[in-house]
Amino acid sequence: MGAVVALTLLSWFVIQRVHQARRVGSKILLSLVFSIIVIAVYLSPLLILRHTPCLSDKIPPKPELIGHRGAPMLAPENTMMSFERSVACNVTAFETDVQISGDGVPFLMHDHDDFFLRTTDAKHKFAGRDFNKSGKLTLEELQDLNAGDWFLKTDPFYTVSQLSPEEKEMATNQTVPSLVQLLDLAQEKNISILFDLKNENGTNDTNIVVETILMSGIDPRLVSIFWLPPTQRSDVKKSAPGFKQYYNNISDMKKEGGTSLNLKYNSLNTDELRQLGLENITVNLWVVNESWLFSLLWCTGVSSVTTNSCHRFQKMTQPDWTLGPTQYTPIWITVDLLSLLIMSGLIYKSLLGESCMSCVLYHVLHCVI
Ligand SMILES: *[C@@H]1O[C@H](CO)[C@@H](O)[C@H](O)[C@H]1NC(C)=O
Ligand SMILES: *[C@@H]1O[C@H](CO)[C@@H](O)[C@H](O)[C@H]1NC(C)=O
Ligand SMILES: *[C@@H]1O[C@H](CO)[C@@H](O)[C@H](O)[C@H]1NC(C)=O
Ligand SMILES: *[C@@H]1O[C@H](CO)[C@@H](O)[C@H](O)[C@H]1NC(C)=O
Ligand SMILES: *[C@@H]1O[C@H](CO)[C@@H](O)[C@H](O)[C@H]1NC(C)=O
Ligand SMILES: *[C@@H]1O[C@H](CO)[C@@H](O)[C@H](O)[C@H]1NC(C)=O
Ligand SMILES: *[C@@H]1O[C@H](CO)[C@@H](O)[C@H](O)[C@H]1NC(C)=O
Ligand SMILES: *[C@@H]1O[C@H](CO)[C@@H](O)[C@H](O)[C@H]1NC(C)=O
Ligand SMILES: *[C@@H]1O[C@H](CO)[C@@H](O)[C@H](O)[C@H]1NC(C)=O
Repeated sequence: MGAVVALTLLSWFVIQRVHQARRVGSKILLSLVFSIIVIAVYLSPLLILRHTPCLSDKIPPKPELIGHRGAPMLAPENTMMSFERSVACNVTAFETDVQISGDGVPFLMHDHDDFFLRTTDAKHKFAGRDFNKSGKLTLEELQDLNAGDWFLKTDPFYTVSQLSPEEKEMATNQTVPSLVQLLDLAQEKNISILFDLKNENGTNDTNIVVETILMSGIDPRLVSIFWLPPTQRSDVKKSAPGFKQYYNNISDMKKEGGTSLNLKYNSLNTDELRQLGLENITVNLWVVNESWLFSLLWCTGVSSVTTNSCHRFQKMTQPDWTLGPTQYTPIWITVDLLSLLIMSGLIYKSLLGESCMSCVLYHVLHCVI
C-alpha cells in the first residue's frame, strides 16, 4: 500500500516530465519505464500472497512450547523455580543444559567456560579456587551455590519488577539443580526434556547421563526424551532406544532415518519449513521470543519452538496479523483501482494543460463521479 501511494504521488511529477519532454522518444521511454514499475507494484500482492504464510485461510495447529532453560523471564534460568514456572505455561518440554560434576553427577548449567561466574556466587564463595570447569566442583559444592541472586541484581529481561515479594524471595533461594531433580519434575508432570550435553570427558559423560536417566525410572514411552547434539548418537541409540533423537543437520537426519530437527529460528526459510512439514518431519526452532516471529512460524506450521516467552505465547489463541485471501484480495484490488483512477485523472489534467492543484482535484473528482 505504501508503494502504491508513493507511486501515485510520484506519478504527478512523472506526468509533468513526460509533458515537458521535447523529444517523442523521451516521452515514450519515460512513460514505458514508469508504467512497468506501476504494473509490477500493482501485481506484487500476488507474489506476496504466495510467500507469506499468514495470508492464508488454513492456519496450522499452534506450535508446542518448549521452555528455554525453564521460564527465564520469570525466574533465574536453569533453576527448579524456572522449570516450575514453565509448567504453568503448559510447556511440552523443558530445554536445559547438562554438565557433569567432579564426582560424576549430571547437573544443570548453561555457561561452560568460566561458567559459574554469570549465574552463581561462586566467585565470592570459592574465592581463589579454580572453578572454571564443571569437573572442578562436587555436586554438594554446587548445591551450596546461590543461583538466583544474580537474576534479581542484573534483571536480564527487565522483568524483576513484575515479581511478587514471595517470588523474589523464592528466587534468592535457588541453587544449581541436579538432572535427577528435573527428571523427577518431568515425570511428575508428564513433560519431556530436551537438553544439550557439554561433553567434557567424551563418552564417559554421555554414559553417565544416559545411565542417570534410565535409573531415574522415567518411562521413555510416557515421557519422550530428546537428545542433542549427538557425538555419541549411535551408542545412545543402542543403550536407550526409547529416546527421541533430534538432529541439527537435515542431511545427517535423512541419512540416519531420523524424523526430528532442532534448528536455529532463522536457519530455514518459510518455504523450506513448509516442505519439511509436508514430509512429516518434526521441527523445533530456537530461541523464539517475539510474538510476531512466533506468529510467522505458527502460520508456517513448525511443530514447536524453544522460547523465553512461554507465559506470553501460551495466552495467544491465534497468530497475530493473519488475513485470509478473501479479505486480502479485495483490499489490494481496491487500492490499485483507486491509484489507477487518480493517475488517470492526473494524465487527463496534464493533457488539458492546466497546472493548478484545485483543477486537478476538480478533474479527479469529476472523473470519479
Ligand atoms: C494446559 O494443559 C491442560 C492439559 O493439557 C489443559 O487442561 C489446560 O487448559 C491448559 N491450560 C492452558 C492455560 O492452556
Ligand atoms: C578462569 O576464567 C577466568 C575468566 O575467563 C580467567 O581469568 C582465569 O584465569 C581462569 N582460571 C583458570 C584457572 O583457568
Ligand atoms: C575428566 O575425568 C577425569 C577422571 O574421571 C577427572 O579427573 C577430570 O577432572 C575430568 N575432567 C573434567 C574437565 O571434568
Ligand atoms: C529456601 O530453601 C530451603 C532449602 O531448600 C528451605 O528449607 C527454605 O524454606 C527455603 N526458603 C524459602 C523462603 O523458600
Ligand atoms: C503424557 O503425555 C502424552 C502426550 O503428551 C500423552 O499421550 C500421555 O497419555 C500422557 N501420560 C499421562 C500419564 O498423562
Ligand atoms: C571412563 O570410565 C572408565 C570406567 O568406566 C574409566 O576407566 C576411564 O578412566 C574413564 N575415562 C575418563 C576420561 O574419565
Ligand atoms: C551437515 O552434515 C554434513 C556432513 O554430514 C555436512 O557436509 C554439512 O555441511 C552439514 N550441514 C550443515 C548445515 O551443517
Ligand atoms: C504425512 O502424514 C500424513 C498423515 O499422517 C500422510 O497422509 C502423508 O502421506 C505423510 N507424508 C509423507 C511424505 O510421509
Ligand atoms: C531470544 O533470547 C535469547 C536470549 O535468551 C537470545 O539469545 C536470542 O537471540 C533471542 N532470539 C531472537 C530471535 O531474538
